[in-house]
Amino acid sequence: MQNFEFQNPTRIVFGQGTVPSLDKLVPADARVLILYGGQSAERAGTLAEVRAALGPRVRSEFGGIEANPTFETLMRAVALVRAERLDFLLAVGGGSVIDGTKFVAAAAPYSGDAWAILESFGSVVQEALPLAAVLTLPATGSEMNPSAVVTRQTTHTKAFFASPKVYPQFSILDPTKTYTLPARQLANGVVDAFVHVMEQYLTYPAAALVQDRFAEGLLQTLIEIGPKVVNGPADYDSRATLMWSATMALNGLIATGVPQDWATHLVGHELTALHGLDHGCTLAVVLPPMLRLRRDNKRAKLLQFAERVWQLRDGTDDDRIEQAIQRTQDFFESLGVRTRLSGYGLGPEVIAPLVEALTAHGMTRLGEHGDVTPDQARLVYEAAL
Ligand code: NZQ
Ligand code: ZN
Repeated sequence: MQNFEFQNPTRIVFGQGTVPSLDKLVPADARVLILYGGQSAERAGTLAEVRAALGPRVRSEFGGIEANPTFETLMRAVALVRAERLDFLLAVGGGSVIDGTKFVAAAAPYSGDAWAILESFGSVVQEALPLAAVLTLPATGSEMNPSAVVTRQTTHTKAFFASPKVYPQFSILDPTKTYTLPARQLANGVVDAFVHVMEQYLTYPAAALVQDRFAEGLLQTLIEIGPKVVNGPADYDSRATLMWSATMALNGLIATGVPQDWATHLVGHELTALHGLDHGCTLAVVLPPMLRLRRDNKRAKLLQFAERVWQLRDGTDDDRIEQAIQRTQDFFESLGVRTRLSGYGLGPEVIAPLVEALTAHGMTRLGEHGDVTPDQARLVYEAAL
């Protein structure tokens, strides 16, 4: 096991009917900015509950944060925070709203050009406003981690940063808030959580027995509840299980002491930036060919994955590896998430610009061995046609 430090300061308040606890969690003298996306939180009544819970506190609101939040929109929120001297940010939404809120929290006190926060991957962040979240979409883990992904619209650059300063102080996870989600977003959430686990688990053995078993438990749980959540009627226990799985998949716990990959995410980001695919869909497209391409380097963990997660015990090693990858791909398809570029209307002509974008963004040595080059990424995109 590799050396590590682990500290996660986010307080989780989990369960049905927990939104009113905002009143005791947000300081009474806070000047609050509520940040949200389109109309889903208003329509579902969540914003009304939040406003009621905040009571007489000074508050403003900033709506319109897009899926895949943009720098341009978020800088308008930064201007509002500065103009109204707001000092506590409350995100109400999914990963995009929470990520956007993290960026606003870091950018508001930053005196230089705020794009530097992303260019430096967060290393320039010295301070940030306190933030918290009411989660409405289980997927990204942003509610309990220090990362955020922001897109610069003018250049189609999807960039990320991380800083310990932007961990949410607390996050409210009420599974009933997922009842209004369309099947497409639930499926994206299952795939995103699944691939987060894979990025931290499916590398090479590191004698990390605890982390491996946690990771395998999360993968098996997602396989068990995924179809129920996406295809069945809203059911509290399955939604609660999805919500907690997605949080646990990317809150740092299973990353302790192990190598990490993240090539699938970074190769997928260009598909969102250039063609607008949902984040979860990019992962469903990229992960299967990525695993096939790198099966030699990942051999030991692929065999472990085949046996422990998919219970594959017959056939040669190569057979079991291929079956495990195919089962994973079939699982994504069974949730209604297409796993081929052609399923999104994209053909061979898109590949060269995708590879160029990866190179331009410096994404040239990805993966746990730093050996996923733009040429390798080209093979992945080609195999995904
Ligand atoms: O905008 P509204 O109206 O709120 O609608 C949203 C949005 O259209 C809707 N939605 C959210 N909660 C709902 C709901 N609709 C009905 N009922 C509800 N309860 O869902 C749509 C998608 O929301 P979004 O927040 O974009 O989805 P998600 O949570 O999947 O977040 C995706 C973003 O997170 C980033 C992605 O790159 C992408 O930008 N990621 C962040 C990570 C992190 N911070 O650690 C890690 C991830 O790998 C990911 O990269
Ligand atoms: Zn993700």
